[in-house]
Formats: sequence, structure tokens, C-alpha cells
Amino acid sequence: MRLQNKVAIITGAASGMGKAEALRFASEGAKVIVADLNMEGAEAVVAEIKENNGEALAVKVNVTEQADLENMVKAAMDNYGQIDIVINNAGIFDKYTNSLETTEQQWDLIFDINMKAIYKTTNLVLPNMIERGEGTIVNIASIAGLVAQMGGAAYTASKHAVVGYTKHIAAVYGSKGIKINAIAPGTIRTPLTADMLKTRPTNKIPLDRFGNDYEVADLAVFLASDESKFMNGAVVPIDGGYTIV
Ligand SMILES: NC(=O)c1ccc[n+]([C@@H]2O[C@H](COP(=O)([O-])OP(=O)(O)OC[C@H]3O[C@@H](n4cnc5c(N)ncnc54)[C@H](O)[C@@H]3O)[C@@H](O)[C@H]2O)c1
Repeated sequence: MRLQNKVAIITGAASGMGKAEALRFASEGAKVIVADLNMEGAEAVVAEIKENNGEALAVKVNVTEQADLENMVKAAMDNYGQIDIVINNAGIFDKYTNSLETTEQQWDLIFDINMKAIYKTTNLVLPNMIERGEGTIVNIASIAGLVAQMGGAAYTASKHAVVGYTKHIAAVYGSKGIKINAIAPGTIRTPLTADMLKTRPTNKIPLDRFGNDYEVADLAVFLASDESKFMNGAVVPIDGGYTIV
């Protein structure tokens, strides 16, 4: 098993890619903190993991709340004694809202969830990782963090910020034994995109299809495991080739 005895926190793990990552990480031997606003969904993910003889704990977290993030980290430490992996996955979409139509309130919410929560969570887990001289963080960005029109103004800006922040902390803390990378998914079938994908063509994607949550989970396992130990500050697109054409 590729993540045997590792402890992983995954935010937004009640649904979509976060859920697929939680199930996959547990099947690779990780003990998983399934962190989400949606406690019913999180409990269902934990139940599925336990049915398959894995280990996981559901924690109710609004990633915009500092106290919730502190509780999430405490839950991992109290129950499992360490934190080896953090997958900053929770995120919301702005439905392609252009700048002129984006209210300041919408802008702040997108940034609070998609970006600021990653900075806050990172600052909570980094000191212990530095002390131990090991640990890995994977931030779920988007191809909207690489190109212009895969989201609206706030979403695109927030995901570009995730890419920049990932590179910054990878440069600063890489020498402490920690590796920090980002995944840039293209269009992936999840509850977030289910409605949009009913009418969207796939012909701009060289592989001519949308991605699946379990394919992103496979990449997350690789980036969280020692198999990627010379990768730091990488932003890895998983998009069927969308960003190369
Ligand atoms: N689906 C795609 O095509 C796609 C593409 C690129 C990037 N992404 C990114 O991948 C990540 C996961 O997306 P998904 O498609 O699986 O979405 P999803 O909507 O299926 O799941 C997101 C999860 O995050 C949780 N969440 C939302 N706000 C939260 C908050 N404030 N606190 C705690 N949990 C919260 C939700 O409850 C949900 O369980 C997001 O960061 C998204 O921006 C998605």
C-alpha cells in the first residue's frame, strides 16, 4: 500500500474529487480526516471507508472559519497523533461570472474558500511538519489557474492565486523536508459540474471526453506518496490535453 500509516486531512471530502480522494487514500492505507461543511456526506464517506476496512474520521469544517480549521487539525492530532498529508480540495465555482457582474461579497466568498483557507490551513500544519522534517501538501487548483476562460473573474483569479501560493511555499519550505504541489484539473465529472456538462461539448479536449473524479484521486495519491519525492512546486494539469492546444 502506497500510503500505509500516513495520516491525511482532505477538505471538501464529502463530495466529488475530495470524496474520491478520501476513498482512494484509505484504500492505500492512509487514515483520513474527512473534513467538510456537509457532515451527512462526510459521515457517508467514512462509513464507506470503514465498510472496506479502512480508517477515517468525519469532521465538520467550514474552511472559512479559523476555529473550525484548528479543530480539524486537533482532531487529526488527537485521534491519529500526526499529520503527514493535507489535500486542500474544498472549493466553490462562480458559474463564469464576469468581473462587471461580480459583487464584492461574491468575490470575497470565492477567495475566502478557494484561496485564503489554503493559506490558513497551511499555516496550521506547517510548523509541525517543519519540526518533523517531513510532510506533503497538495492544493487543488484548476486549469482556471493556468488559462483565462475556464471560470469567471473571481474563480480564475482565486485559482491563479492558488498556483502562485503553491510555488511560493514550495520554494520557501522545500528545504525543510516538505513537498508542496498543486493539481490543475480540467473539466471533471462531479456534482459541481453535473449540470454544466449536460450541454458542454468535449471537442476542445484532445482526449474528447471529460475527466473522472477517480482519475484525479490517482494523481493525488502519486503526489502525496514518496513516489513523487523530487516534485516540489509543480502544478500538474489533468485535463485530457485541454491546455496544450
Ligand atoms: N469539477 C471540476 O471540473 C473541477 C475542475 C477544476 C478544479 N476543481 C476544483 O476541485 C475542487 C473540488 O471540486 P468538486 O468538483 O469535487 O466539487 P464538489 O462541489 O463536488 O465538492 C466540493 C466539496 O467542498 C465542500 N465545501 C464547499 N465549501 C466548503 C467550505 N466553506 N468548507 C468546507 N467544505 C466546503 C462541499 O460541501 C463539497 O463537499 C474545488 O476546489 C474545485 O474548484 C473542480
